[in-house]
Amino acid sequence: MDSQVIFIPSGLAGTFHSKQTVLDAARELGVDLDSVCGARGVCGKCQVIPSFGNFPKWAITSEVSSLSEVNSTEELYSGRRPLEIGGRLGCQAFIQGDLIIEVPPGSQLHGPMVRKEVNLRAVDLDPVSTVSVVEIDISHVSDPLERKEVLSAALLYQWEAEPAGMSDYALKQLGDLDEHETIVSVVLRHTLKSSKVVAIWAGFETESYGIAIDVGSTTIAGHLLELSTGEICASHGLMNPQIRLGEDLMSRVSYAMMNPDGGTELTGLVRGAINDLVGELAASAKIPLNKIVELILVGNPVMHHLVLGLDSTPLGQAPFTLQVAESVLAEATSLELVCEAAYVYVLPCIAGHVGADTAAVILAEDPINFDGSLLIVDVGTNAEIVLSVDGELFAASSPTGPALEGAQITCGQRASKGAIERVRINRETLEPKFKVIGSDLWSDDPLFDEDIKAFGITGICGSGIVEVLGEMYLAGLIAEDGLLSDVPSGMGLETSRVFQEGRTFSYMLHRGSESSHNRDIIVNQSDVRAVQLAKAALRAGVDLLMERAQLTSVKQIRFAGGFGSHIDPLYAMILGLIPDCPLSDVVSSGNAAGAGAIIALVSGQARTQIEKQVLEINKIETAIEPRFQELFVAALAIPHLEASTANLATEVTLPPKVKTQVSKRSSRRSRQKD
Ligand code: FES
Repeated sequence: MDSQVIFIPSGLAGTFHSKQTVLDAARELGVDLDSVCGARGVCGKCQVIPSFGNFPKWAITSEVSSLSEVNSTEELYSGRRPLEIGGRLGCQAFIQGDLIIEVPPGSQLHGPMVRKEVNLRAVDLDPVSTVSVVEIDISHVSDPLERKEVLSAALLYQWEAEPAGMSDYALKQLGDLDEHETIVSVVLRHTLKSSKVVAIWAGFETESYGIAIDVGSTTIAGHLLELSTGEICASHGLMNPQIRLGEDLMSRVSYAMMNPDGGTELTGLVRGAINDLVGELAASAKIPLNKIVELILVGNPVMHHLVLGLDSTPLGQAPFTLQVAESVLAEATSLELVCEAAYVYVLPCIAGHVGADTAAVILAEDPINFDGSLLIVDVGTNAEIVLSVDGELFAASSPTGPALEGAQITCGQRASKGAIERVRINRETLEPKFKVIGSDLWSDDPLFDEDIKAFGITGICGSGIVEVLGEMYLAGLIAEDGLLSDVPSGMGLETSRVFQEGRTFSYMLHRGSESSHNRDIIVNQSDVRAVQLAKAALRAGVDLLMERAQLTSVKQIRFAGGFGSHIDPLYAMILGLIPDCPLSDVVSSGNAAGAGAIIALVSGQARTQIEKQVLEINKIETAIEPRFQELFVAALAIPHLEASTANLATEVTLPPKVKTQVSKRSSRRSRQKD
């Protein structure tokens, strides 16, 4: 007797007989129910949850007896994915009556991704590589090409799969198999039109892995994922060793230009670091390197070119020509990377200064579907800026330099234990208090010294420098034009915290003590200037995009990247890094480039989507845009020479506006223009 089976959530339904399993029924109906082991009851990917009871909606009664009893294969099942309560293996359970069958997300090949450590938007899995377990008989076949024929026939018969080819590595693995091997796990890599065998492992191996890597100029960070579930198994980061040949991107391009083998050396260093990272990730996830079948790389154009071994020197001067803008697919070994089975996919670049990392940010933040205007800024030594206006995208990059990360600041340092990250200055006494990374206490807390004893006070990191300058501005210690003075403007206050060094003044944030190894932590005039230049570069880029989009304000601002996660949006606005906006609409979106790389790793559809989207972006090259210089001059003022501060004024008491050198200089420029 035929039984009616309804799969949820898809709602696909059909009638089946008692010799058919739930997996058979799902396949017949095209239900997205995964299977890797070929219905052997080993992989657990086909797990379903039957629902029992009366279902008037479908006019059926689903009973326990509608499924065959749990068999010995199910009883012995001990796969990596345990059976949920009430769960059955779809490949083992036979249909004996009307049924409602739920396919849980973890059993869907294209189901939602398991998310843990990384802040990802909802993403549906669309794996580019899948594993299929195949039974073969190669007992008398030693020639790899003959074995290939045996495997092809088995794939066709057992999986109806007809791969168009086989990688050299997979062919070698096939040739190396013991002739007594009867079960192999085959990794098929799919494109829109065909598939290819890229790895073959002896026995049941139902998991394959991929790594999403964000190659930054300072750090290289990666996440290792199991590809069928999207589960993040390990995360790790390390410093980019190229730093020793140049702190920022342009100095690395100069190194490549000035030294005969400079580019090759830089390429070797970054590839070596990626290999170290891959090794660390595989070790911490306890998997062999040959189980890694996909690598995703994102990075700014210079990193992108150096990893791929392309000439980066044209990126050092106008017109900043990319050697390759579109996405790149290559065998990992062709880039001297250690995972022999893996293919590397590199996201497309957008423009000469706007790279694959920005493409990844766009993939992660999905600005095209934002209703209204959305500004995304990723602050690093180069700031990447994306503006979306009802789905139309504008993108640019601004050379901010490393000041906002604490570098090139007298007492600056990278964000690590002991770095000052929060600052408040008393408006009456001009005395500061601060917090350092590693302690939750403010420096005026009686327990502070004890709490920081292990690491001390070592310097000021990026978020600390933004806060201290913001506070100094609010306290009147810094004027609108950035001039640091001994007498706070208009307040009639004097303080011993400000002292003269040559022709300029400095502010004593922390007097040398045991916790700072007797080192004074100061902020001086050149620090203020360095931050002004950095923030003006960022803001001018933002203003340029807004002018192009004919906007005077934006609905939401998102900070992407590590700097954005730590910076207080209030102080970013006080210094004028970002345009005025209700503070509640300024949010941090975490490591968006890394998140975008992960999305590309688990979804072939996402790759196709971003490849199309980057072609439609309005690209603005700030370095060759005459208007950028005018906007830059206006943005040097704190918070800004002429832009609105209406929302900011509701949050803090801003010092009265005075006529400054910046404004005079700027007005001189505009008179000359007239
Ligand atoms: S298909 Fe692998 S356990 Fe059912």
